[in-house]
Amino acid sequence: MKSYHLTTFGCQMNEHDSERMKGMLESLGYGEAGSREEADLILFNTCSIRESADSRLVGHLGEAKRLKGEDPSRVVGVGGCWSQSMKERVFQQFPFVDVAFGPGQVHRLAEFLTSDSLTAQGFFEFEGFTGHLPMKRTREFQGWVQISVGCNCACAYCIVPSTRGREVSRPADELVAEVARLAADGVREVTLLGQNVNSYGRDLPKGQKVTFAELLAMVDAVEGIERVRYTSPHPKDMREAVIRAHAELPSVCEHIHLPLQSGSSRVLKAMRRTYDRGRYMDRVQMIREIVPDCAITTDIIVGFPGETEAEFDETLEVVEEVRYDSAFTFVFSPRRGTTAADLADPIPHSVKRPRMERLVEAVQRIAAERSQRFVGRSMEVLVEGPSRTDPARLRGRIRHNKTVNFAPDAARPAKPGELVEVEIVSATSTTLAGEELISTVA
Ligand code: SAH
Ligand code: SF4
Ligand code: F3S
Repeated sequence: MKSYHLTTFGCQMNEHDSERMKGMLESLGYGEAGSREEADLILFNTCSIRESADSRLVGHLGEAKRLKGEDPSRVVGVGGCWSQSMKERVFQQFPFVDVAFGPGQVHRLAEFLTSDSLTAQGFFEFEGFTGHLPMKRTREFQGWVQISVGCNCACAYCIVPSTRGREVSRPADELVAEVARLAADGVREVTLLGQNVNSYGRDLPKGQKVTFAELLAMVDAVEGIERVRYTSPHPKDMREAVIRAHAELPSVCEHIHLPLQSGSSRVLKAMRRTYDRGRYMDRVQMIREIVPDCAITTDIIVGFPGETEAEFDETLEVVEEVRYDSAFTFVFSPRRGTTAADLADPIPHSVKRPRMERLVEAVQRIAAERSQRFVGRSMEVLVEGPSRTDPARLRGRIRHNKTVNFAPDAARPAKPGELVEVEIVSATSTTLAGEELISTVA
């Protein structure tokens, strides 16, 4: 039997694509190897969102080159966003690569592996969803569902529109059927994936149009699905109906990831985000009114070209006003082919770094304060497995997406995939600690 080794970089979309890649390879008779040395096929599913992602990959490719040198019958394949963004150069710069393909061409890997072709090949059209391929899930009770691919936005800093193409939605009936299959297979939590999930459905043909809020209701209605999450929505498309879904649909979790990027309307405009600080805060206020206990998380970029100290301070102000439950913070990284990469006035590292430190301090302080509201409450936890630090304890997540480590009910310890009630006894910025309440297994 032939074997493969796959390394995944990047976002949940890539992790999901990798599950499809694995499913496809196993249907071709490949087995998963424990290490690259043991594999006949060395694969990378790559990301290019920031420069650090690129440099990490180049290190890994060095090892693949060495292994290929030792055994030239090995096949080296590179898929994903980096591959797509390097399509003109990948074979010149990395001549040991046999097959390269973009995120829309995962299925072509099978074609390549089953053909007699000995020459290197690249596949970079935008077509097809990995959602049609077989899937090998890494998490038994949690599943990803890709509702759309691509992005029609033009955020000045972002490489994704060029690596994943125009936005295409999958028909709602197909998605509901997929969720039902997952549920039948034991999945209790689904995460709907798209670059801009709440613009879902606008490109569907007349008569088949379904809005994102309607899709949430259709997924909520699937028997056996206890929790529905999604990522990421775009603030410009965040409609009241979607926010109401969090209050009204039992499975839609009390967590919204609402990427801010910057608190300055001037910078947001330069980023081409198409909303300003006021409109963003209106969305936040609507969330707070309709779903008072909702966790709100975000993404923030520090040091966009031309960002002044006063504009950065506006980002800090928004962080203080919104009071995020957590935030991913990124230093601006110029990406090939994006408009921001060519903007004048790049911010030097010596300025970006202290801004980042101030931002992280605020984010962590507020997250720790926000976490305290769970202490003393009984929270529903979806059990994921043993705690990473103490095998006598269990780990899971609350609906607000915070991780909880807890002491199980000694008489009947809960199993992964079960929903239990846990009393929260303490909280840090990232994790909660608690004790399982007796016989609450659902
Ligand atoms: N489509 C999603 C995710 C985009 S990538 C969305 O719009 O929310 C995830 C995050 O990476 C972005 O939200 C942004 O904060 C960050 N990011 C993207 N490009 C970047 C760049 N060139 N430099 C720094 N951070 C970047
Ligand atoms: Fe990138 Fe903006 Fe599209 Fe998100 S919405 S993927 S940040 S272009
Ligand atoms: Fe995801 Fe990275 Fe592509 S974040 S969409 S894998 S560039």
